[in-house]
Amino acid sequence: MKSTARIERWLWLVGWLLWLSSTGAAEKEAQVLRGEMLFALGGCSNCHTAEGGPILGGGELKTPFGTFYPPNLTPDPETGIGKWSEEEFIRALREGISPQGQPYYPAFPFTSYTRMNVQDVRALRAYLKTLPAVKRKSPNHELRFPFNLRAGLWVWRWLYFRPERFKPDPFRSERWNRGAYWVEAVGHCGECHTPRNFLGALDRSRAYAGAVLGEIRAPNITPDPDHGIGEWSEADLVYFFKTGIKPDGDTVSGEMAKVIRNGTAKLPEEDLRAIAEYLKSLPPIAAEP
Ligand code: HEC
Ligand code: HEC
Repeated sequence: MKSTARIERWLWLVGWLLWLSSTGAAEKEAQVLRGEMLFALGGCSNCHTAEGGPILGGGELKTPFGTFYPPNLTPDPETGIGKWSEEEFIRALREGISPQGQPYYPAFPFTSYTRMNVQDVRALRAYLKTLPAVKRKSPNHELRFPFNLRAGLWVWRWLYFRPERFKPDPFRSERWNRGAYWVEAVGHCGECHTPRNFLGALDRSRAYAGAVLGEIRAPNITPDPDHGIGEWSEADLVYFFKTGIKPDGDTVSGEMAKVIRNGTAKLPEEDLRAIAEYLKSLPPIAAEP
């Protein structure tokens, strides 16, 4: 009698532990899945992976200021970010400050990622940790004077950068706000589609009016009917984000092809509709890049 009670108690305990560990695992899995989506739209591999190189093993980025070598982001402890704490990762992504306390160049779009919420940055890190470690040291950036002086970034930050979080607009729908978050924070669409001044700071007064940066020519994506995407329907935009095919039958090329292939094409349709709704709500600007 006594021993059956004990066995029952044991069984109960074992069952409870199993349940506990399975919910923990399910939570972890959901976090990694969310991280994978953020990684896709965040375009991390577009910059941090070299042509034909191992994923996130380090890339190359040519700009009018010189050539950047976006570093290795794999979990390798020596050449990647395997030794970083979660706090260090959050600070790099949202404040643009390295674990050594140095400022990052805004070629790393922390200027948009700063708007991400902390659960998402944690999810992104959880996903990065699942990728294979690669031992590969990135070369130093090759920048023109005076851009090669990292200390100058303190001035740049003082002029142009304020850490900020995305704040939902309570007067808009949940879908609009989701689209705004994807575009403004994670998708960093303005980093290519918004023009910059001579110091590389985004000109928010002409947000999404199109921009030329080195070899990248990003068109006007405001709803202006002549210069922007005013003639595109929401369905046209969703189709474009899935396939790269424009309403006139043209296929997307260059940098945007990567944004679609590695990014928007992997998002659920509902999120693409949210992005389209947000773009269609922007103030139209009649300008060509
Ligand atoms: C447009 C190109 C670009 C994109 C997109 C990009 N990065 Fe970077 N990233 C860079 C550059 C350039 C640097 C180097 C900055 C510097 O040296 O000041 C960098 C640096 C970093 C660093 C610091 C690494 C170190 O060793 O100090 C981290 C962490 C990082 N990026 C994470 C990410 C994540 C996560 C994503 C995707 C959400 C991402 N980056 C997307 C260009 C990019
Ligand atoms: C790395 C730079 C870059 C980023 C980031 C980027 N784009 Fe683009 N985008 C481009 C370029 C370049 C083109 C022109 C491609 C072409 O015509 O083949 C383009 C084209 C487009 C077009 C088609 C416009 C037209 O008139 O043909 C749309 C719509 C668009 N982008 C939306 C977005 C959205 C939304 C995001 C963020 C999720 C985004 N882009 C992020 C560079 C970028």
